[in-house]
Amino acid sequence: MNKFILNFFIFFCIFFPELHAQQSYSGNSVLHCDANNESTDPSSAVLYTCNGEKPSCQAFLIFKAHPPYDSISTISNLTSADPLQLALINNFSLSAIFPPNKEVIVPVNCSCSGQYYQANTSYIIPTRQDHYFSIANNTYQGLSTCKSLMQENTYSNSSLDAGLVLKVPLRCACPTSNQTSNGTKFLLTYVVDWGDTIYDISMRFNSSMESVADANGIDLSNPLIFPFTTLLVPLSTKPSSLQTKIHSQQPPYFSPFTPVIWKKTSNKRYGVWIGIGIGISLLVICFVLLLAYFHKKKAIEAARNDQLGRKKWELPQDFLVSIDQSLKVYDYEELEVATENFSHRCKMGGSVYRGVLNGELLAIKQMSKDVDKEVSLLNRINHFNLISLRGACEHFGVFYLVYEFMENGSLKEWLKKRNCQRFQIWNYRIQIALDIANGLHYLHSFTTPPYVHKDICSENVLLDRDLRAKIANFSLARSAERDESRKSSMWCLGTKGYMAPEYIEYGLVTPEMDIYAFGVVLLELITGKEAVFIQDGKEVLLSEVILKIMKGENVEVELDQLIDPSLKGQLWMELARRMMKLSIDCLAEEPESRLSMAEVVSCLLRIQLDAQRS
Ligand SMILES: *[C@@H]1O[C@H](CO)[C@@H](O)[C@H](O)[C@H]1NC(C)=O
Ligand SMILES: *[C@@H]1O[C@H](CO)[C@@H](O)[C@H](O)[C@H]1NC(C)=O
Ligand SMILES: *[C@@H]1O[C@H](CO)[C@@H](O)[C@H](O)[C@H]1NC(C)=O
Ligand SMILES: *[C@@H]1O[C@H](CO)[C@@H](O)[C@H](O)[C@H]1NC(C)=O
Ligand SMILES: *[C@@H]1O[C@H](CO)[C@@H](O)[C@H](O)[C@H]1NC(C)=O
Ligand SMILES: *[C@@H]1O[C@H](CO)[C@@H](O)[C@H](O)[C@H]1NC(C)=O
Ligand SMILES: *[C@@H]1O[C@H](CO)[C@@H](O)[C@H](O)[C@H]1NC(C)=O
Ligand SMILES: *[C@@H]1O[C@H](CO)[C@@H](O)[C@H](O)[C@H]1NC(C)=O
Ligand SMILES: *[C@@H]1O[C@H](CO)[C@@H](O)[C@H](O)[C@H]1NC(C)=O
Ligand SMILES: *[C@@H]1O[C@H](CO)[C@@H](O)[C@H](O)[C@H]1NC(C)=O
Repeated sequence: MNKFILNFFIFFCIFFPELHAQQSYSGNSVLHCDANNESTDPSSAVLYTCNGEKPSCQAFLIFKAHPPYDSISTISNLTSADPLQLALINNFSLSAIFPPNKEVIVPVNCSCSGQYYQANTSYIIPTRQDHYFSIANNTYQGLSTCKSLMQENTYSNSSLDAGLVLKVPLRCACPTSNQTSNGTKFLLTYVVDWGDTIYDISMRFNSSMESVADANGIDLSNPLIFPFTTLLVPLSTKPSSLQTKIHSQQPPYFSPFTPVIWKKTSNKRYGVWIGIGIGISLLVICFVLLLAYFHKKKAIEAARNDQLGRKKWELPQDFLVSIDQSLKVYDYEELEVATENFSHRCKMGGSVYRGVLNGELLAIKQMSKDVDKEVSLLNRINHFNLISLRGACEHFGVFYLVYEFMENGSLKEWLKKRNCQRFQIWNYRIQIALDIANGLHYLHSFTTPPYVHKDICSENVLLDRDLRAKIANFSLARSAERDESRKSSMWCLGTKGYMAPEYIEYGLVTPEMDIYAFGVVLLELITGKEAVFIQDGKEVLLSEVILKIMKGENVEVELDQLIDPSLKGQLWMELARRMMKLSIDCLAEEPESRLSMAEVVSCLLRIQLDAQRS
């Protein structure tokens, strides 16, 4: 299996043009194991070149907590970092356990050894199954490389036995004099994860895209980065725990499945990248399905052992088809403790509370109606852009659903924060639109049976700490099977301003109604106005305003006037116009004339690419 994966990477390896840069990014060739004899020059596919101002310095690595390496003591043992420093910089107690996939900042001493920078640590091989590649890529998550392990250790790949002690050089680097003169004090080694972009990474660590690109020799007009490879992020101050996040557990199922991009792109590299994406996604999905299967087995056992007579959640039969996340059934007492007895201080509005459960901040929603449908739906789906349900609880007919916590609240609230700095940055709005589109695309096309959300509106889109959007509130969602039953008997349900004409008139429930509602949310993002707003004392629907403009004469001028004034510069105006056009195509009167979600995703991806190139 591993050999196959390896060949796969070698086969698709991409070489980057030489650039004048501090270090060079060698893409997937860091994953190769064969000793590099193509050139005698030091290669960043082994470790970073020793070209800094100083031969040694303090550096930082980002390691993602992953059992068994999920506490200060185990991570410091793995990386030879000082446990006290590790606890201090992560603002974390020595005895606590990090949630899975939480980023942990690891301070290391980085120094030149020959032609390469490295931070030394050692690793005791725990089982016979380990080999150099799996130690570098899986245990050390790409913070070391297969080649450098083979150079430092004399054992052959096949003689790696349990109990052997390996020398492990970790990838790190010290700032060059050019970087120092720009104010860089430290370099952070970051391992790229699924869905990461240079823009996100540089914003999160308070760096600039240019300096990150320059540090890694990446051409910003073609910013390709690959999961499990490292980037150097120049920092002017020590990193802080406030900048770390928890990564999603699965790769997003986004665009690789959208054939539209294949056809329309003229960029060959992009195509290859999508090819790799599909390959990797399929492999990872197989792996995830296997994992899900074992998780499920555990969950079933846990449910059997649970003799307290509490409500049991139905476990879907076809668990190999749907990816299950093994829901937890919480005790009411646990929720009481977490929310300080459902006190005002923990209330976040409506009937939603915040609370810490097992060390993780979560949102707890109180509901009096039956939640079976929502639970069984959310239990079957799993996507980065759909809110994840962690567990549930029933207490005397009142239901409590426990979700992941979304720091930035709803999109509706966020759009009112006009003076917030990130509000003015258009890349965020494009990303939010893309996130919602990806979530809907998944719901419409990759669940079995396909689902219609039925209540897409800015209130039901939640934003996490990094302003990544997730769709929430699936209480109206239903299967989109095309039979007579798609006519809903209670079609008045929904949110005013977002309901498609065919739904208001005939109660037709189809994926196209979600696309219409998405068009309205997109309009809100572009105009900064609400879906229903008051003008001259009268209630006005944003979608009707557009309809009226489209029928008028000065279409272009009037549409331009609607665009949020915080958009400055010709480029942004041009991108906003393209988004406006997209939104109008989603709002077509006839459901058949609306764009499909796949087309929306591909269109937004292109807009995002153009925005990042600028
Ligand atoms: C090392 O050994 C493992 C299993 O024994 C194999 O899967 C892997 O491809 C080998 N790697 C190299 C570089 O030979
Ligand atoms: C450092 O900056 C100087 C002047 O701007 C430039 O000539 C040189 O190539 C740079 N060095 C690197 C490694 O980028
Ligand atoms: C490594 O060097 C040997 C001998 O010079 C050559 O035969 C072989 O093709 C080289 N391998 C690679 C991957 O370049
Ligand atoms: C990690 O722990 C093992 C056993 O507890 C110990 O032998 C080893 O020296 C430790 N490694 C480091 C780098 O502290
Ligand atoms: C790193 O270097 C500093 C200063 O030279 C030293 O005090 C510290 O113990 C070193 N840390 C480790 C983990 O070696
Ligand atoms: C550390 O965490 C505590 C809560 O656990 C918080 O109150 C404090 O502000 C944090 N300190 C820093 C520097 O982030
Ligand atoms: C790290 O290990 C290398 C090779 O094992 C050695 O040459 C170098 O001196 C070590 N660096 C430090 C700071 O111990
Ligand atoms: C590399 O490690 C990651 C986890 O860190 C894993 O998901 C991925 O499949 C590994 N890559 C290969 C080629 O095994
Ligand atoms: C230094 O800063 C300038 C302007 O911010 C940027 O263009 C350049 O790439 C930076 N150089 C380095 C080495 O980070
Ligand atoms: C971000 O970096 C700039 C300098 O590049 C600094 O002035 C500012 O204080 C930093 N902000 C944070 C939140 O660290």
